[in-house]
Amino acid sequence: MSTPALMPVYPRCGVRPVRGEGCYLIGEQGERYLDFAAGIAVNALGHGHPKLVQAIADQAATLMHVSNLYGSPQGEHLAQRIVDSSFADTVFFTNSGTEAVECAIKTARRYHYANGNPQRTTLITFNNAFHGRTMGAISATNQPKMRDGFEPLLPGFKYAPFNDLEAALSLIDDTTAGFMVETVQGEGGVSAGTQEFIQGLRKACDEHGLLLVLDEVQCGYGRTGKMWAYEHYGITPDILSSAKGIGGGFPLGACLATAEAAKGMVFGTHGSTYGGNPLAMAAGEAILDVMLEPGFLDHVTAMGDRLRGAIEQMIPNHDHLFDSIRGMGLMLGIKMKDAAVARDFVAHLRDHHGLLTVAAGENVVRVLPPLVIEESHIAEFVQKLSDGARDYAVATV
Ligand SMILES: Cc1ncc(COP(=O)(O)O)c(C=O)c1O
Repeated sequence: MSTPALMPVYPRCGVRPVRGEGCYLIGEQGERYLDFAAGIAVNALGHGHPKLVQAIADQAATLMHVSNLYGSPQGEHLAQRIVDSSFADTVFFTNSGTEAVECAIKTARRYHYANGNPQRTTLITFNNAFHGRTMGAISATNQPKMRDGFEPLLPGFKYAPFNDLEAALSLIDDTTAGFMVETVQGEGGVSAGTQEFIQGLRKACDEHGLLLVLDEVQCGYGRTGKMWAYEHYGITPDILSSAKGIGGGFPLGACLATAEAAKGMVFGTHGSTYGGNPLAMAAGEAILDVMLEPGFLDHVTAMGDRLRGAIEQMIPNHDHLFDSIRGMGLMLGIKMKDAAVARDFVAHLRDHHGLLTVAAGENVVRVLPPLVIEESHIAEFVQKLSDGARDYAVATV
């Protein structure tokens, strides 16, 4: 068997997009898809948003890349705006989510090292978590499908059930550096941390001198209707990883930290050739400009409520198929009733109704539209979903 030129690590489907227009993707043969996957929560402004396109084009023609050996007016400016819009005092820019997670792990370890506690290296993480594919990120996840064959893994992680505060607290010992948790689990099945859980982790960190690291790569940056998902919990983290929506499709991530948590990250402790280059910064500025426009986040909340309400209404009509709705804002998940139909139903919606969604753990269909959707897109989604549910039922009887 010949090996494909493109390493075959993804079970790619038959959709082969070549163009995007707003909330739609267009395939090689001109077929149109309503894109309620948005590159898995990446295309916050949809496809081809004029402000993002213009900003990238202008910057590409002006200055695309320089080394981090030089001063970065572009990086300083975007970092300051992110600091002003968050809990953080300082930001390290990366090219992806997993690199932002990697930086978060290093920042946490280095904090305790700088504090004279080099034995505090262990992060307590959670079942069903997804933090990316670097060795650090797969070590932070206890899922065999991501780890098998990649041992030896990075030591220094312990795992507790998600939303089980007592179990998490019982793992604390004198090697603990802190907790690393998705505020709302994405790949794991759109499970939001409970108030008690997230607030309890914060409290334990304060009591024991530990760090709360939030992974908001998927749930942050406007997706839940707030700039950051932690804002729903009335707490702030010490360190946070961000990516996906922050670049709207341009590869950009960020590790945010308080001055205290970042105290170990001094000259020479971390770096990236591309991280924070002028082109990425221009993309990030354009996204943030739009996201901070008055009413943008309210729009996400309103569309999220509308979409959620529409799906909720539909559940009784298809209660053989749909169980419940979960999530926040425009990060929604439809929990399916029968075991393991989510993947198959996602394929059915895609192949027979031109609707793109994403399967997640716990038998959930993720609904992650661009944050700029309008009522008309919701109406079209609802039609496609209900048609899909109806003929899926017939096909599977
Ligand atoms: C919560 C979370 N963390 C980290 C990552 C990894 O991001 P990336 O694929 O950009 O490396 C993802 C990607 O889905 C994610 O959902």
